[in-house]
Amino acid sequence: MSDDEPTPDGVLRLINGYWATGIIGAAVTFSLFTHLENGVETVAKLAVAAEISERGAQALVDGLVGLGLVEVREGRYRNTPQASAYLVEGSPTYLGDLAKLKQRHMGGLTTLAEVVREGGPLTDPTTEVADNPHWAQVVPAIAAQSVPAARVAVDVLGLAGAGELSILDVGGGSGIYSAIWLAANPAARSTQLDWQPINEIARGLLAERGLSGRFTCIDGDFHTVDFGTAVYDVALYSHIAHQEAPADNIAVFVRLWRSLKPGGALLICDYVVDDDRGGPAFPLLFASEMLLKSRQGGTWRRSDYRDWLVRAGFSDISFHPAPPATLVVAR
Ligand SMILES: C[S@@+](CC[C@H](N)C(=O)[O-])C[C@H]1O[C@@H](n2cnc3c(N)ncnc32)[C@H](O)[C@@H]1O
Repeated sequence: MSDDEPTPDGVLRLINGYWATGIIGAAVTFSLFTHLENGVETVAKLAVAAEISERGAQALVDGLVGLGLVEVREGRYRNTPQASAYLVEGSPTYLGDLAKLKQRHMGGLTTLAEVVREGGPLTDPTTEVADNPHWAQVVPAIAAQSVPAARVAVDVLGLAGAGELSILDVGGGSGIYSAIWLAANPAARSTQLDWQPINEIARGLLAERGLSGRFTCIDGDFHTVDFGTAVYDVALYSHIAHQEAPADNIAVFVRLWRSLKPGGALLICDYVVDDDRGGPAFPLLFASEMLLKSRQGGTWRRSDYRDWLVRAGFSDISFHPAPPATLVVAR
């Protein structure tokens, strides 16, 4: 093999990408990152703390070092800053539940080739079925993923110092945006529109945080529920655009434009790709997830959002990074 010939290790690592899903899923199942954070540093002690075999503990920490989530020095292991921030239990940004959910979803990828041939899901898409139990599993697991974006949005929209505000969260899921925004602004009130069982989950979160008094829910389908006219200062559409067809996004944006007071803002949070579809990597990879799970969804380009929003009546449109997502603000 000549010096400038590429080696196969990068491709082999990608071919075996499911190793990462499995190793992280198993590590959070046994709270390995939490034990490491608490100073349990050796394989023998990790095995005792996690109540797993020593051979298993060694394989897991080897895998975690290989993935760059754990470091080792002279037989002592510790979390990298990324693992400390996102994989230690008790943190508001804990992604361990999402890792366990993804481990359960891994099998679905075996159908991808057939789905690619057909151009969409082989069975009823999870995103389009009313009251689908899928959502009750997904929304608590993805709540932590929305925490950084919801915090960025507080700054981008200047929510904390905005005084009285009326917010509509379309497909609000766990209610995490309302929880963060109402905590940031004690004069704000929020209404979440989602399916009834999901709104129950959100009510639970807002009650836990002592914010129920300023939180209401509307049960139903956002394609048909009336949003009203000039009622809200801020409307939110987070991780919804990717499950919808372009025409459906435009139809919702038209109704949201009408629902906003003059000067009000629509905030969209989603995995947005560059106009030439050359990046960023995460939204490009996410396109296959939408192929598997929706009939007409996708990862839309900045120019798609701009075009749809202008057609719906918005004129002032800006993009703000909240990696791996992007916030789109439209007025
Ligand atoms: C991917 S989750 C996003 C949750 C939340 N907005 C976030 O960013 O964390 C999608 C949410 O939209 C809700 N949803 C999907 N289709 C809907 C529809 N047609 N009507 C009402 N809610 C819907 C789901 O129940 C779920 O809560």
